[in-house]
Amino acid sequence: MNIDNCKIVELPKITDPRGNLTFIEGGGHIPFDIQRVYYLYDVPGGAERGGHAHKGLHQLIIAMSGSFDVVLDDGKNKKRVHLARSYYALYVCPMIWRELDNFSSGSVCMVLASNKYDESDYYRDYGQFMKNRWGE
Ligand code: TYD
Repeated sequence: MNIDNCKIVELPKITDPRGNLTFIEGGGHIPFDIQRVYYLYDVPGGAERGGHAHKGLHQLIIAMSGSFDVVLDDGKNKKRVHLARSYYALYVCPMIWRELDNFSSGSVCMVLASNKYDESDYYRDYGQFMKNRWGE
């Protein structure tokens, strides 16, 4: 799997003059079962998050409020994705190095994940990630 497998998923949007509504159903909208939800908030200006890859975890990243960028890197190719709408989600497959930056003030980043938190699923060292991914 490489960064071409990481795609924007357009979620259903029920527009309503009282306020819009979006929903995500397990099995329906995303290619994994949701085991965990976490969110980043109160991110100070200029901060960077992420800076790791997962061995087996699938994730869906959504800008619930405000905006930020996700830089995806499979070791051969890189792409920067700007997330700014709560009905657009970014699916990130396993073995992708990701960095999150350019957070707007008050932004909230919600992540749906295919498994519970497990530190042994992380590559936190880019060199180690590259070695295990490409043998480099
Ligand atoms: P980390 O995954 O490095 O955050 P980010 O991707 O935003 O840089 O996690 C930061 C800390 O939070 C780390 O000590 C692990 C802990 N953590 C949990 O306990 N549970 C979780 O679900 C997550 C995502 C992190």
